[in-house]
Amino acid sequence: MRLLTLCLLLLMQGGVTAADAFRLSPFCPPALRLDEAGQCVLRGQYQAYGSLYDKGVGGLRTGLPPVRDGFTPQQIDLGRFLFFDPLLSGNGSLACSSCHDPALGFGDGQARSVGVQGIPVQRSAPSLWNVGFMQRLLWDGSKHSLEEQLQGPLYAPDEMGGDPQSLLAALQDNESYRGLFATAFDNQPLVLAQVYTALTAFESSLISLNSRYDLYAHGVHSALNAREKEGLNVFRSFVARCAECHTPPLFTNQQIAVLGVPETDGRPLDPGAAATSGDASQRGGFRVPSLRNIALTAPYMHAGNFESLRETAAFYTGGRGHAVPEGEDLNLHWHIWDPELTDNELDRLVDFLMTLTDQSFLPEIPVAVPSGLPVGRAPGVAPAGTHALHIESTTNNF
Ligand code: HEC
Ligand code: HEC
Repeated sequence: MRLLTLCLLLLMQGGVTAADAFRLSPFCPPALRLDEAGQCVLRGQYQAYGSLYDKGVGGLRTGLPPVRDGFTPQQIDLGRFLFFDPLLSGNGSLACSSCHDPALGFGDGQARSVGVQGIPVQRSAPSLWNVGFMQRLLWDGSKHSLEEQLQGPLYAPDEMGGDPQSLLAALQDNESYRGLFATAFDNQPLVLAQVYTALTAFESSLISLNSRYDLYAHGVHSALNAREKEGLNVFRSFVARCAECHTPPLFTNQQIAVLGVPETDGRPLDPGAAATSGDASQRGGFRVPSLRNIALTAPYMHAGNFESLRETAAFYTGGRGHAVPEGEDLNLHWHIWDPELTDNELDRLVDFLMTLTDQSFLPEIPVAVPSGLPVGRAPGVAPAGTHALHIESTTNNF
């Protein structure tokens, strides 16, 4: 960080060339450890635990699903510059970080994101924390790798509006990027697959498993207070059934479930997974979202239906299918019923959900990106250079 600032100062004085101003970190992000092969891999407490199937869905000491790791520190750090650089959009106005802003839990705080055309897209921007664990991506679960997924926003006219040829040319024309890609990819010629690898490497490094809930799961009983423990018990109870779908430790079983969440603004029902899987029984079905860092990513649900966690929790006790639009006959999941939760139980659920916040491994937001364009931030978030978000963490509890 200090080195970068110094380089920028020198650059302003004409002391160094643009290519020297950006350097890639030789260190793995703090969530990951360098292995003998020079790759960053996840090592943590959860890997000592058995699979979910030994422990039941609400079990605290259950293992994690496989994660995308094994990238080099340089690939991850190159992905960080790319992620924040609006050069990746057709008109230079949007970066990945414009809709997935670290200051907003890697969402954008909006009910539906707005793309380069200034028009809202169909759904809300999900958090990217722990996205490297997801076997199915997008709200409808239709994508199966990060590399495949990210080409969606890059080239969709209503999202970033780029095209592959122009993106490649823009990167090849940029002296800094030429140098950074050469460093990260052993001096191979710059190709788009490297862009996808680097972005995937960065996304996979966004690990959040150090919350107070995790401390509790690993055996520090005082990490949660009495109200939060009460909330966890409601969450895991056979009455509320939250943990049947939002299964620890990621708080998702990654399956498609039909809840009957309607659209907003009078729009027709979003067919969800049925549109991409062709399975009519999945009409209105979405992949169960993780609840990690959920306190940071309001509004909630695929269409940004609810402003608060309290309203979201209350949806589940509104009666099975209470919000399904007239004329729709949805195949509601059998765990969606009417648990008749009391006001106290809803409040305790919210207390518990707040314990899932952990941003200790927040990546550093670059103060500048190689294109020289303003670093991409979500609407209403202060520009780079003014943030005080980087939280130092010396402990690794997961
Ligand atoms: C215009 C806003 C916008 C931009 C720019 C954008 N995204 Fe997204 N992103 C979204 C929205 C909205 C969704 C959910 C779309 C859906 O499910 O239909 C999403 C979904 C995702 C997901 C799936 C997460 C999950 O839990 O399944 C990933 C990963 C992702 N984006 C990464 C990226 C990357 C990498 C970039 C840059 C190349 C990017 N996004 C650019 C708005 C955006
Ligand atoms: C049948 C599986 C299932 C059960 C049971 C369930 N959920 Fe969900 N949950 C989902 C799905 C699927 C979504 C996304 C729905 C949508 O966007 O239309 C969701 C969304 C959410 C969200 C918003 C996530 C976001 O990123 O916007 C919260 C918060 C939440 N659930 C909490 C709970 C709580 C609390 C309970 C127990 C009272 C619970 N869920 C029970 C499947 C389930």
